[in-house]
Amino acid sequence: MDLILRNARVRGHDKLIDIAVNNGLIAKIAPKISARPRSTPRRAGQVIDCAGKLVSPPFTDIHVHLDAALTVGQPRSDRGQPRFNQTGTLLEGIEIWAERKRSLTFDDVKRRASLAVKWELAHGVTRIRSHVDVCDPELTAVKALLEVKREFAGLVDIQLVAFPQDGIYAFPNGESLMERAMDLGCDLVGGIPHHEMTRDDGVADVKFACDLAQQFQAKLDLHIDETDDPNSRFTEVLAAETIKRGLGGRVTASHTTSMHSVDNAYAFKLIRLIKRAGLHMVTNPCDNSVLQGRFDTYPKPRGHTRVKELLAAGVNVAIGHDSIMDPWYPLGVGDPVQVAFVWIHYGQMSGMSEIPQVWDMITQNPAKAFGATDKEYGIAAGNPADLVLLDAETEFDALRRIAPRLLVLRNGQIVARTTPSQTFLCPKGWKKEVIDFRPTHL
Ligand code: FE2
Repeated sequence: MDLILRNARVRGHDKLIDIAVNNGLIAKIAPKISARPRSTPRRAGQVIDCAGKLVSPPFTDIHVHLDAALTVGQPRSDRGQPRFNQTGTLLEGIEIWAERKRSLTFDDVKRRASLAVKWELAHGVTRIRSHVDVCDPELTAVKALLEVKREFAGLVDIQLVAFPQDGIYAFPNGESLMERAMDLGCDLVGGIPHHEMTRDDGVADVKFACDLAQQFQAKLDLHIDETDDPNSRFTEVLAAETIKRGLGGRVTASHTTSMHSVDNAYAFKLIRLIKRAGLHMVTNPCDNSVLQGRFDTYPKPRGHTRVKELLAAGVNVAIGHDSIMDPWYPLGVGDPVQVAFVWIHYGQMSGMSEIPQVWDMITQNPAKAFGATDKEYGIAAGNPADLVLLDAETEFDALRRIAPRLLVLRNGQIVARTTPSQTFLCPKGWKKEVIDFRPTHL
């Protein structure tokens, strides 16, 4: 064995277990595995004692914008003033990004995106689906992210979505830019029907995306109904096209925040349609917490899609990071656990029975939308040894404390390591005391 993770806590196992890793794969899972097997007694592998801490399958960030990452405050004015999103709206974010886009260079995109991918990997992310803006005649961001994808191959699997940020019909030559981006090597076709100029153009946006995906035999992932407007009803168009064209399981609807604003009768019909179509749904709680509800006074809507109802209907729902320090959302460190923490609040999924569902939304659900099979993903003998050791004993505590990722393994190799911080209380006259934030009774 190359490596044994000893005393690991893994979902589905009542007791602590050992995980043996050999040649990049999980070789064995058992209560006690010898570091010196009888067959090869001289070959003792490395042993790491997990001390009862949680070992999870890795995270998938199913929705991020690597090309815009780390641009918050840009561009600067002639007098050096940073440009921030003052209204906090999606539309001002798009305007600022259009200004910043003018100065994009290959190296600029590659440098920022690479750092964002490293942040994600350090947090245990081994799969990323990034949208990449194609509304640029030079397709600079597409070319740069294709190189980032190549450079991280074997460490982080990256899918790129050809994403028409300014619209397929609201931006000159939108159709041909989408086609060129797919020709260059994008993996999925995107869309943005709610941002087109008219309802008819929005429907055409969805249909063109489906046509292009079929032409390239690619999957789809559309930004869709990302608005508070209850009349934005393009998810039904996407679901209907998915059913008519037999694309079930290959289509993701991202954001769908207008589902928050529609009446319950329409939501009931739409959720059944989504289920029938087999759409994967992605909610992006960080961005949509700050972007939605900006046009309302009080009471302010929460502005997230109907996750609990979708989950109850058996729909695959995942959480995406969306922005990492860009014109739409200024915060973020590339950590799905932090994003899930935000979602627990906005989605009101704080019930103990809901915590595993939230964990699924950053692990197995996005992996499924990504296309990972049971043989490629999950803690099982024969699967790749892609594992994350957290400084927490339970998923609940990992979410509560946004616990550090002590180790990240990809194909059996340790690719990231975190040393947790220690806090002391030391008022004058006190004996120095280490503060332990872990729970004592859960
Ligand atoms: Fe997005």
